Parts: sequence; C-alpha cells; structure tokens
Amino acid sequence: KKIQDQILVIFGASGDLTYRKLVPALFDLYKQKSLPDNFVMLGVARSDFSDELFREKMVDGIRQFSLSKDAPQADVDAFADKLYYLSINTEDSKEYTKLTQKLDLLDSEKNTEGNYLFYLSTPPNLYPLIPKFLAEQGLNKAKGKIRRIVIEKPFGTDLKSAVYLNKGLLADYEEDQIYRMDHYLGKETVQNLLVTRFSNSIYEPLWNRNYIHHVEITAAESLGVENRGGYYDQSGAMRDMIQNHLLQLLALVAMEPPTVIESDAIRNEKLKVFQAIRPLSQDDILNNVIRGQYTAAKVKGKPQKGYREEKGVNPDSRTETYLALKLYIDNWRWGDVPFYIRSGKHLPTRVSEIVIHFRPTPLNLFIDNKEYCNDGNILVIRIHPDEGILLKTGMKVPGAGYKVKEVNMDFHYSQLQDTYVPGAYERLLLDAMLGDSTLYTRGDALEAAWRFVQPILDYWKNNPEAPLYGYPCGSWGPNVADSLIEGKNMTWRYPCKNLSDDGI
Ligand code: BG6
Repeated sequence: KKIQDQILVIFGASGDLTYRKLVPALFDLYKQKSLPDNFVMLGVARSDFSDELFREKMVDGIRQFSLSKDAPQADVDAFADKLYYLSINTEDSKEYTKLTQKLDLLDSEKNTEGNYLFYLSTPPNLYPLIPKFLAEQGLNKAKGKIRRIVIEKPFGTDLKSAVYLNKGLLADYEEDQIYRMDHYLGKETVQNLLVTRFSNSIYEPLWNRNYIHHVEITAAESLGVENRGGYYDQSGAMRDMIQNHLLQLLALVAMEPPTVIESDAIRNEKLKVFQAIRPLSQDDILNNVIRGQYTAAKVKGKPQKGYREEKGVNPDSRTETYLALKLYIDNWRWGDVPFYIRSGKHLPTRVSEIVIHFRPTPLNLFIDNKEYCNDGNILVIRIHPDEGILLKTGMKVPGAGYKVKEVNMDFHYSQLQDTYVPGAYERLLLDAMLGDSTLYTRGDALEAAWRFVQPILDYWKNNPEAPLYGYPCGSWGPNVADSLIEGKNMTWRYPCKNLSDDGI
C-alpha cells in the first residue's frame, strides 16, 4: 500500500509518551524511508513552546529513545524540520479554529493534501472531548481525504465508560476511522503468533483441547510503579495490563484461523474468543483470581519501597500490583482447557511470554527416569525480551539404557542477522498512516473484553475485604497463586532472563 501525504496531529505533545515513544518511533520511520514524501507532525498541547523549542525537546527524546538514536546530526535535523507545534487549550472548543487555520496553512506550504491523522495522547478525560471538538470544526470527515483518529489506552476505566466512549466516537466517526491503540499488538513477536500458528502445519493440528493441557500467559515487570503512582493507584494490574494487553494475547493464541489476513477477518475471530470466555461467578472470583500488592524488600541488595509507600499512592491502598487468574473459553477448540494469566510489578525479571503446555504421552515408557518428569512438551513464545520461540522436548541421553533428558530447540530473533525489527509504536504508527487497522482493537472486541473483566471489578468494589496478598519486591508474587494451576507437580513457569539459560 502506498502511503499518502499527510499531517499527523499529536494531542498531548508536551507529554512523556510523545517524547519517549511517538517521536522517536517517527524518526525510526523516517530513517527507514517509510514516511510519506510530504509529511508534517503537528504537536498540540496547552504548554507554550515555539517550533524551535519543541524540536529541541523532541531531538533530545530521539537521541535517548529511538532505535536510530546514533544517526548523523544532519538526518535528525532534516527530520526535526517536519515538526511543528501549536499551543491551544484543548478543553475549549472555540480554540479549535486555530487548529483548522494551522492545518490549512501547513497544507498549503507543505503539500500535505488535507489528509489528517489525529493521535490522542492526552489524559483520558479528554478522549470524549477532542474528537467531538474536531467534528465541530468539520475535521472528522472529508470526501477522498484521510481522517483518522488514534486513541491511546486506557480506553475506559470500566465497561460503562468504554461503551460511552465508543458511542460518542461513533456519533461522529465511522468505525474504520477509529484506531484504538494497544501497543502489545505492535510487537513483532505478537504478530509472529499468527504466523507460527497458521503457516506451520505441525502446530495447528495440536492446537486444541485434545493435545493442549493448559496455557500460561505472563507479563512480568521488574520495576515498580515508578513515578506513575497517581495513575496506577486508580488503575491496578487488571486495568493496566490484563484487560487490554494480556487479553489481546489470549485472543491471538485462542482464535480460529481467519479466512484471509485482513483486518476485519482477524478481528472477527478475536471477538469470538472474547465472547466465548466463560464469565466468572462470585466463587470463581474468590478462588481463581489472586490479587497481590508488593511490599518493601531488598532486591539485589538494594532496598525497595512497598507499594503503599510510593509517591501518589494512598497509604491504605488496596490496588493490585499483581494479578493472576484462571479462565476457560467455552468453544469447540478449547472446552475445559484452563488458561492462566498473570501480570505483576516488582517481579524478579522483565519478561512477557506465552507457554503452551502439551499433554503428556499416554504412557510413561521411560519410567525409571528420575530426571525427566514427562509432564508434556512445552512451547514458549517469548514476547520480550530476547524475542523467540522455544520448544522443550525429551531426548535420549547417549549410552546404555533409556535415560531421557529435556532439551531446548530454540530460536531467537537476535539470530536473524541484518533484519531490522521495528519497535511497536513504529509499526503501529505506520499502520495508522497506511489505514491498516489489523493491529488495532475494534470497539466491539474491546467492550467484550471489558464485559469479562467488569464482574471482577464489581466484586472487589463490593467486597473490600476480599483477599489482597502482600508479596515482597523481587519475588514471583503471592505463593497462593501457585495453587491456581491444576495438575500434579504443576506450577507457573519461572522464566530466566535468556531463553538459552532456561534449560532444566
Ligand atoms: C503499559 C502499562 O501499557 O504497558 C505499563 O501502562 C507497563 O504499566 C507497560 O509498564 C508494559 O509495556 P512493555 O512493552 O514494556 O511490556
């Protein structure tokens, strides 16, 4: 698809996301020669910046966070010339005439053809307002022109607010103009899930209840809430990670093959997964949803604060920084296969991975093996870091008898030499500019994901004394989470940093 000339308007341009992620990703696109010939990025926010000052700040971000941060100065300068800034009060609808005038001016000077991609990287309370104000200016629709809108997460804080937000957007925009961002979907390994499943004939026949015992999906982080205590205390792991990133991974693991690799074909299949997740009863929530909160501890000799001591966090907070849960997908493929999902802050390492546990062989022929437990093969799809795929299989140890050892067959993306792996924001920004929404979340699927999550949030709200377990910083979360996993000798996988160190 050829990319059209356009202006990317970023609301919230003075914020952290623009500085750390969006502009560095745009520079990466520039370095890859993926930007359109005539391209402008117009930053919009309330703070007062000149174009020059804004560019200086953005260049500083590029030098720290871009994949091409060591590029020659001439390249950085040439890119910075494409950046402009407009200061308006985005909460005041009247100020949007200034935006229209600025866009007209840039169009006539830079030949951007009246094509606009609006990106909302503002505090979420502005999500319902900005699209409406743009529509009042007639910026939402124009025949033959690009008019798209990208919305960062969080998309709502519960089912009701997500429905409200969708409804407001759909009053002025068509669904195919709306791009709901979930940066996990831009990760190369997440997309590779589709390729692994649907381009290899060996996996798909096994990818069901007959051969898979259970599936684990983990997103562990070694850092705490850092300077985001104020936001996080209102959010917690459920809203911050599970409702969006992890349920998206679940949908890709569990979905049926689409008939074609096209946005709606894929998104239809993902929606069906969300619709088939078995709703959790009150008992399920009590027994199969484990909440934790990190407590002060020394990690690698360094003292770390407990969550309740973090800046911006209520000292009596009951917000979860760890969450593990078990769910079932009631459809033909997955009937009675448990899916275990967990995410937490201040865990021992930063790792996101999907682990498929295959069923053991029907009979353990090599019974005398002390070392090999025959719990079934596992396939690990490592999302990050050290992206790759690992299959654990049993091999005979050379020599007399039948001693079996578990060995790794592994592939790392880092082995792909001379292959450029784009960052998630780079990939997703390019897709939005191209008009490909495959890796963005559709409104109906997003609501369906909230529909699963909402009873859990309600339960916690109505039962403030429901268990919340402390876990020391640097541990793998509350021990009680181990009891979630059904099966003899079964626990979560506790991955090490590198797949290759990961053998038994
Ligand atoms: C964000 C969450 O969406 O994802 C953060 O708000 C979290 O709390 C981050 O740290 C994790 O993203 P990644 O790409 O580092 O796994």
